Amino acid sequence: GAPIEVDLTPIQDGQIVNVFWRGKLIFVRKLTAKEVGDMKAVPLSAMIDPAAFPTRVKNGHDQWLVVYGNCTHLGCVPIGHQGNFEGWACPCHGSQFDSVGRVRHGPAPINLPIPPYAFETDTKIRIG
Ligand code: FES
Repeated sequence: GAPIEVDLTPIQDGQIVNVFWRGKLIFVRKLTAKEVGDMKAVPLSAMIDPAAFPTRVKNGHDQWLVVYGNCTHLGCVPIGHQGNFEGWACPCHGSQFDSVGRVRHGPAPINLPIPPYAFETDTKIRIG
């Protein structure tokens, strides 16, 4: 599939936008300043699939998360702003993800994967 561009301008702090690339659901989330701080502070030892904050965002763009939108257990779509970790909760078997998409409660075994993307400007990304 061809790359897609996403204009970030209309996305508000805390908002999650769904986009599709190659038929796959992708979440684009603008983290609040509090979420950024909280996510940087989580110790790796608290994670099922340890991933430091900088590996989840692009350098210089701490507020933006771009992840595939299907649970890494069996593929259901997690619900945003639910669960105990400021992120998503999966309605199928209870997995929970934090606001940078790291799995924090199973059965999902790994974090929500990050698709290939890049910032074209501070307000526009290209996915693919
Ligand atoms: Fe999400 Fe099973 S598909 S917990």
